[in-house]
Amino acid sequence: MRLVLLGPPGAGKGTQAFKLSQILAIPQLSTGDMLRTAVAAETAIGRQAAEIMERGDLVPDPLVLEMIAERVAQPDAEKGFILDGFPRTVAQAESLDEILDGHNLSCVLELKVDERQLLDRILGRAAQARANGEAVRADDNEKALSARLRAYADQTRPLTQYYEARGLLRTVDASLPVDRVTAELVEAIQ
Ligand code: AP5
Repeated sequence: MRLVLLGPPGAGKGTQAFKLSQILAIPQLSTGDMLRTAVAAETAIGRQAAEIMERGDLVPDPLVLEMIAERVAQPDAEKGFILDGFPRTVAQAESLDEILDGHNLSCVLELKVDERQLLDRILGRAAQARANGEAVRADDNEKALSARLRAYADQTRPLTQYYEARGLLRTVDASLPVDRVTAELVEAIQ
């Protein structure tokens, strides 16, 4: 099964991709996690991405495409995968079609949550990290979050039409508690 999780920052893509990967026994491929690892390791991609991510903007397509093409070619992704945070632009979606080379996506799961709740979740995660003495994500603050929301509205939301036109889009109410959302997603992929 080849799934895409689509949704704004804080919608629960990472949370749900992790749960679905356990249920379906296929890997979660998160471009955000891959990029944060690259930033921490100060690789060439990480050095180019760090400032852009901190501002809340999207990293240029070629950097992300190089990472994802390599990752989906690995043996553990042969049986399927859950893409978390990719694609994020129509150009990325078109490139994904080429990378998959005829192995079509099974479906695209859109997580819907209103903006007030997104803000509460992201600022809540930052507050929790601070309270635990852990590092706060560099883009978990109001300024970067408004850029992330803008990037979603301008560059990523058009993907819903892209995938709806291909009959692949399923939309789920992701404002529900975590386990309820998981149950809705499992039902949506049947
Ligand atoms: P990325 O890491 O993908 O971050 P994001 O899209 O901003 O999303 P988040 O990780 O903040 O939220 P999420 O939807 O995964 O929710 P989560 O489960 O974490 O991208 C970061 C940056 O990397 C981008 O801004 C960009 O710069 C770059 N990037 C990444 N991919 C790229 C691409 N393809 N192209 C270009 N650039 C790219 O949950 C959030 C919080 O809410 C958690 O605390 C969680 O516990 C809580 N929560 C989750 N679900 C629920 C629920 N149902 N009820 C209550 N709380 C919940």
